[in-house]
Amino acid sequence: MKTIVLANNKGGVGKTTSVLNLADALVARGHTVLLIDGDQQGNLTQSFTYNPPPERTLASVLLGRMELSEAVQEMRPGLYLLPSGGDLNDAVAKRAEQPGAELALRKLLMPVQTDYTIVDTPGSMGKFTDMALTAAHGVLIPVHPEVYGIRGLVNLLGRCDMIVDGLNPSLKILGLFFTQYNRNDRRVVLRSNVEAIEGHSVLGPYVLRSTIRDNVAVKEAQNQKQNLFEYAPESNAATDYTVLTSELLDRLNNE
Ligand SMILES: Nc1ncnc2c1ncn2[C@@H]1O[C@H](COP(=O)(O)OP(=O)(O)OP(=O)(O)O)[C@@H](O)[C@H]1O
Ligand SMILES: [Mg+2]
Repeated sequence: MKTIVLANNKGGVGKTTSVLNLADALVARGHTVLLIDGDQQGNLTQSFTYNPPPERTLASVLLGRMELSEAVQEMRPGLYLLPSGGDLNDAVAKRAEQPGAELALRKLLMPVQTDYTIVDTPGSMGKFTDMALTAAHGVLIPVHPEVYGIRGLVNLLGRCDMIVDGLNPSLKILGLFFTQYNRNDRRVVLRSNVEAIEGHSVLGPYVLRSTIRDNVAVKEAQNQKQNLFEYAPESNAATDYTVLTSELLDRLNNE
């Protein structure tokens, strides 16, 4: 089992959307995937028609009130979810006061049998993101070229380096990818923002080839709580997420 975390210190950059579409793309290739909703907004959980009982959530599992296997539900064939709701932040804060908190998620994921686990994280990085980075084999960073800050991204990579130096030497920075962006985009502001990141000495080497285009099919599939690859298999976004999945697997397996 390999664990991948999607993280960024900005909100609304496509973390949750990418978690879901990467998972559906991996399932389409015959893999099994466990999703962990690490954001108390519960957007990932709300991507499915499942309405979890409040005790069957990540919060309960973190506090040792329930086994992970009891709280996980199969959403679509091969795709499993550990859901979250409004009590996650309190649970994370409580767990963080106890010994060994950084390793909490890593330990919980040890018995997981799916091929991949993908963890969604909140826009404001905090204790849960650290737990997730400590549990992960790789971290993937979606960047919205309109909503970014060079310094924030450099800090995020610095934080990953600290986790590598300390708790998780095998964490790999899989890369940054642009969301809602097309390499042929003519909008000058977006292009110059992308060039600033690609040309940056620290960030540039991590930029992946794949980008995810802005595509209304993404929102439509989300609204209908459907798998993008079934809802709009020919859409730009379905194509882009398929390409990103290949690039991700190349990086993940090329260790
Ligand atoms: N490729 C895309 N094309 C069109 N809309 C998109 C695309 N990617 C994401 N969106 C939309 O952008 C919005 C933000 O995306 P998303 O919720 O995935 O971001 P997030 O980083 O998880 O945000 P938060 O930090 O609030 O959790 C959503 O409304 C989503 O539908
Ligand atoms: Mg989100």
